Amino acid sequence: MSVSHRSLRLGGMNVAVFPDAEAASLAAVDSLIEILDTARIRRRRAVLGLATGSTPQPVYAHLVHRHRAGVLSFANVSTYNLDEYYPISPLDPRSYRSYMHRHLFSQVDIAPHRAHVLDGTVPEAFAAAHAAEFDRWIEADGGLDFQLLGIGRNGHIGFNEPSDLTVAEALRLPTRLVELHPVTRADAAREFGGENHVIPRALTMGLAPILAARSIVMLAIGAHKAEPVARALTAPMTALLPATLLQSVADKVTWILDEPAAGRLA
Ligand code: F6R
Repeated sequence: MSVSHRSLRLGGMNVAVFPDAEAASLAAVDSLIEILDTARIRRRRAVLGLATGSTPQPVYAHLVHRHRAGVLSFANVSTYNLDEYYPISPLDPRSYRSYMHRHLFSQVDIAPHRAHVLDGTVPEAFAAAHAAEFDRWIEADGGLDFQLLGIGRNGHIGFNEPSDLTVAEALRLPTRLVELHPVTRADAAREFGGENHVIPRALTMGLAPILAARSIVMLAIGAHKAEPVARALTAPMTALLPATLLQSVADKVTWILDEPAAGRLA
C-alpha cells in the first residue's frame, strides 16, 4: 500500500487506517490490482468476489479509469457478487445486477458470461437450488482469490444479517434466500423511495463461501461505520455481529479504513 497509513492489528487481523476516503479507496484498488497482476503472471484467471453499496463505488470508478487508460484488463477475470434483492428484475435500476452493470461491467472488458450476480428472477421454489449452484460455480472456478466486503451499520457482511445462531452454525451458512434486517431496510429506504418500499428479502452469498476466499478486504468509510467497525474488531466472535466472524480467518483479512471509520478504535 503506497499512501502513508497507520497499521494496527486487532482481532488477529491487519487494519490499515488512511487519512481520508480517497486514500482508503485507492488502497483497496491497489489490493485488487495486485490480485489481477498475480493471476496474469501465473497465466490463470483471477476470481473476484465483489460488493455493491456506496462504499465500493469510488473503487469501481478507479478501476474503470485505469482500464480506459489501457493499464488494466478484465479479459481474464471472473466475478461473483455478494448479493441481490429478491425478487427483482436485473433490469430494475435498483437491482445489484444493474448497479454492477453501471459501475463496472459495461465499462470494462469483462466477458459478460463471467460476471456473475445471483438471479433475482428465479422462481421461489428454485431459489435454494440456484443459491447452491452459485456456490458450486465459485468452486468450479477454483474458488475466490479475493473478496471485497463492506460492513452494514448492524455489522452484516453480504446480507448475512445478525442472528442468534451459534458461531459454528453461522460459519457454515451457505448462499441462500434471507430476510433483510430492519437496519438494512432503513438504510436502503432512500434508494427505494421509503422504507415500506424496500424489497424485504435477498439472495446472499453465505458466510462459508465468503470466508473461504483466499484473501479478504473489508473497506469501511465514514463516521457512521465507526461503531460497527470497532465492535467487529474488538468484540468476541458472535453471529449477532456477523463481521466479528472475520476473526475466524484473521490471517487472510485486511481492514481498510479512513480515519472517521477508525474513530472508535483505541
Ligand atoms: C453489498 C453488501 C452489503 C454492503 C453493506 C455496506 O453488496 O453486501 O453488505 O457492503 O451494507 O453498504 P454501504 O457501502 O452502502 O455502506
